[in-house]
Amino acid sequence: MIIPTLREGDIAVRPIRLRDARALERELLDNRGWLRPWEATNPYGPMSFDVRGSIRALQANARQGFGLPFVVEVDGELAGQLNVSNIGYGSLSSATIGYWVSERFAGRGATPTAVALATDHCFFGVGLHRMEICIRPENAPSLRVVEKLGFRYEGLRRRYIHINGAWRDHFGFGLTVEEVPQGVLRRWLDGAVPAGTGAVPAADRAAAVTPGA
Ligand SMILES: CC(C)(COP(=O)(O)OP(=O)(O)OC[C@H]1O[C@@H](n2cnc3c(N)ncnc32)[C@H](O)[C@@H]1OP(=O)(O)O)[C@@H](O)C(=O)NCCC(=O)NCCS
Repeated sequence: MIIPTLREGDIAVRPIRLRDARALERELLDNRGWLRPWEATNPYGPMSFDVRGSIRALQANARQGFGLPFVVEVDGELAGQLNVSNIGYGSLSSATIGYWVSERFAGRGATPTAVALATDHCFFGVGLHRMEICIRPENAPSLRVVEKLGFRYEGLRRRYIHINGAWRDHFGFGLTVEEVPQGVLRRWLDGAVPAGTGAVPAADRAAAVTPGA
């Protein structure tokens, strides 16, 4: 599957390349404390820190049509990653989005822009029907990202993903193409995101297990 470069203003998503390894490794190392609380971990053993190996694995997965591995760029500088993964076709036609940006790029709207660009490509380029984002209840900045774009709250998933060393509860958010005929990016830029779509009901916020609990 061809992975395009997509832009809006000074934000771009483009396919990850092996030659990103050095810059990516530097960002990952410089941002350990920033990323660790939200990073997927291996429930069955230690994590490897092999950036070239991870890029190769992402590319192999993409060649099979199961993922779209992007890097996020701000003003042409590598700012983070956005991965479309778990692409299912046919009657499901759905995929999952994960993302991070380095701390020095936070708060500039890079992630919502990148998510909007990637989602619109998945809907209108790849032909997928639904996109999903799962977020830890404690991750307020990430919850803002789905709220800004109007991903719809779908529910609490108990001990759903192994993050930072333990199975963590997640809030699931979804969006189907019928909800955004004009595209996610256009809807957001036009200020047309319906209020409250990404709001998590108080009962689910109270029910989610907090770290250390
Ligand atoms: C979550 C994350 C991807 C958001 O990316 P971003 O590009 O900063 O997104 P935005 O610019 O839209 O900012 C989102 C919210 O982050 C918060 N924020 C802004 N600047 C921040 C900073 N310097 N530090 C911490 N949070 C900040 C604000 O609440 C902001 O919401 P607002 O615009 O309504 O004020 C980013 O914080 C990150 O990479 N965090 C670490 C990894 C992670 O959590 N990944 C997601 C796992 S689901």
